[in-house]
Amino acid sequence: MNEATPDIYESDLAVDQYLLFHYGTAEDQLPYSFGPREALFYPIRCVSDFLPSIGRVERALDLGCAVGRSTFELTRWAPEVLGIDLSQRFISLANRVRETGRIAIRRLEEGEIVTELTRELPSDLRREHCQFETGDATKLPADIGRFDVVLAANLIDRVKAPGVLLKSFAALVNSGGHLILSSPYTWLEQFTAKPAWLGGRYDSAGNRALTLDGLKETLLGAFDLKLTKDLPFLIREHARKFQWSVAQATVWRRK
Ligand SMILES: C[S@@+](CC[C@H](N)C(=O)[O-])C[C@H]1O[C@@H](n2cnc3c(N)ncnc32)[C@H](O)[C@@H]1O
Repeated sequence: MNEATPDIYESDLAVDQYLLFHYGTAEDQLPYSFGPREALFYPIRCVSDFLPSIGRVERALDLGCAVGRSTFELTRWAPEVLGIDLSQRFISLANRVRETGRIAIRRLEEGEIVTELTRELPSDLRREHCQFETGDATKLPADIGRFDVVLAANLIDRVKAPGVLLKSFAALVNSGGHLILSSPYTWLEQFTAKPAWLGGRYDSAGNRALTLDGLKETLLGAFDLKLTKDLPFLIREHARKFQWSVAQATVWRRK
C-alpha cells in the first residue's frame, strides 16, 4: 500500500459506502418518504451541474475519482476521460465497473446486517471512453499532458499536500479549459497537517482564513473564478445514520 494512502479508503467500510454513494438509486440510499433528496447523486451532479455550460471537450481528468461515478459521467462530455485515485481497492472496483457495467453493493443496515444489491451502470455512459489508474494526484507523471476539464471532488481536504495539488493545476488545464473543485473543506490533521491547510484557520493576526480565500490566492494568477455553488451531499453510514454535508464547488477557467 502506498504510504500516502489513508487506510480508510482501502477499508471494507469505505468500499461499501462509496459504491452505494456512487451507484445506488435514490431508494437504495434513502428509503424514507422524507429526508434531503437534493443531496443525493453528488458524484453525478459534480459533472451535470457544470458541464452543460462548458460543453463538449476532448480530454477530462477526475482526480480522487474513488470508485468512478464522476469519471463515467464525464464520458457524456469527452471521448477521453482519465480517473486517478490513490486507493488501489477503489481503482480495482472502478475497473470492474468499467469492464462489466455492473456494481455489487453491500448496503449496511444495522450492526452486521447487510443487504446485497446489484446495480447497472446507465447504458448511455461510454465505459470504453474512460480509463482508471492508481496514482497520487500531488505527484502526477510529467507526461500526463493537459486536459480541457479537471475535476477534483472532495479531494483537496484529503491530501497531504493540498498546496502542491493547487499549484499543479495551471500546468494540467489547457488554456480556456476548466477546473472544477468541490469540497466541504473538512480539514482534519488525520489527512493534512495543519500548516498545509488551505483555510479553516486563524492567521497570525487572529483573522479567519477561509478556504475560498486560500484557493483564490493560489489559483487567480492562472485562472478566473467563474462561479461558486453549494453542493449538498449525503453519505449513508447505515439505515438510520447519514452524513449530510454541503460542499462548495468552484469553477475556474484557465487564462
Ligand atoms: C472523500 S473521497 C472523494 C471521492 C470522490 N471524488 C467523491 O466525491 O465521491 C477522497 C478520495 O481521494 C482519494 N485520495 C486521497 N489522497 C489522494 C491523492 N494524494 N491522490 C489521489 N487520490 C487521493 C481517496 O482514496 C478517496 O478516493
